[in-house]
Amino acid sequence: MTDKTLPRHSGRCLRYALLSLAALTSTVGHAGEVEVLHYWTSGGEAKSLAELKGMMTNRGHSWKDFTVTGGGGQNAMAVLKQRVLGGSAPAAALIKGPTIQEWAELNVLTNLDAMAAFEKWDELLPKVIADQMKHKGRYVAVPVNVHRVNWLWANSAVLRKAGVTTLPSTYEEFFAAADKIKTAGYIAVAHGGQDWQDFTVFESVVLGVGGAGFYNSALVQLDKRALASETMRQSLDVFRRIKSYVDDKASGRDWNVATDMVIKGKAGFQFMGDWAKGEFLAAGQQPGVDFSCSAAPGTDKTYTFNVDSFAMFQLKAWEAQKAQGYLAYLLMGQDFQEKFNLRKGSIPARLHMDMEKFDACAKASSKDFVAASKAATLVPSVAHGMAVSTAAQGALRAVVSEFWNNDQTTVSDTMAKLVLATGTRPR
Ligand code: BGC
Repeated sequence: MTDKTLPRHSGRCLRYALLSLAALTSTVGHAGEVEVLHYWTSGGEAKSLAELKGMMTNRGHSWKDFTVTGGGGQNAMAVLKQRVLGGSAPAAALIKGPTIQEWAELNVLTNLDAMAAFEKWDELLPKVIADQMKHKGRYVAVPVNVHRVNWLWANSAVLRKAGVTTLPSTYEEFFAAADKIKTAGYIAVAHGGQDWQDFTVFESVVLGVGGAGFYNSALVQLDKRALASETMRQSLDVFRRIKSYVDDKASGRDWNVATDMVIKGKAGFQFMGDWAKGEFLAAGQQPGVDFSCSAAPGTDKTYTFNVDSFAMFQLKAWEAQKAQGYLAYLLMGQDFQEKFNLRKGSIPARLHMDMEKFDACAKASSKDFVAASKAATLVPSVAHGMAVSTAAQGALRAVVSEFWNNDQTTVSDTMAKLVLATGTRPR
């Protein structure tokens, strides 16, 4: 059977059913190339990705990096757009959350349903994740992990030398600890002044100050009353206060450079998702010894999730499709999800995985994900593209970063601008 004998839509589905089988049985002689767009360039990220490259090349397929630097993936999405519009889509791209829907609408993604049915993805994934991978009920993307965003990282030695004996669980405790760290001569908070990093801190503050219900109303539903509320005022006050603990060279700094300040003992804390743990581990540090992970103040009963996933683009050549099919199969496999997440700092997206080899931070993340999911305090990360459309995310980020960067911008003006930003409706 050739491409030409297949009608367009059923053909694609049938072909993918064949690919699902071919993926499992393919040999070196039938290898193809996969070009993969990603932005995983930091030490920990590159080590995690190396696991995937190794697994693909062991099977005889060749891997072509399509790397666009820039944490959080903003740059990557812009470059991807140019490539796809120019008619040369990569085999796969790191695309997340509602952006998956935006690409699927353009009818450029591969339908992975046959593979998903064959491999029983519906049974292997939490519903909240499976739903994001589907467009109109059909799988178009493969999730590789769950990153928790609402973490506070700390250098154990800096805290000890500053006389901070417990990790802060409220903002009152946090500012008291930050004062001690500053007095001891260290930078209290390592930060990189880029809009996605500003929003990473901001959303953790909103969650800590207002709780999951408020977070959802304000940042996910974009409810105007919540955005203009007293709770938002308090959140912005806390957010601005955190800035006074950041050094004056933060502007434009990459997130992993900020993490390195904590690793090297120049700074005490960093608010960041657990890809930061990938950096601590890549530097040979151990959780509970050299560094600690704790929920950002006020957020221990909540969980901000960020799922990395790969969407597959429609390809013409059979060999390329087969390599792509194998990639999709591999990404959902237990072996890959364990090896990759042990390095990436995240936990597997796949359910029922043995967490034995994972460290205490990952075990806590896994336990808290389940608990938050039951308690309805599991919330999507806005900073990391899980919650609102690309346009709404951009509008919110711009307002929050302006507030962060310009001390003259008032809290009241900022709340008014957040309300205006909701003119860009979510989803
Ligand atoms: C991604 C992570 C990545 C981080 C820094 C997040 O949005 O989900 O995989 O490590 O950005 O680039």
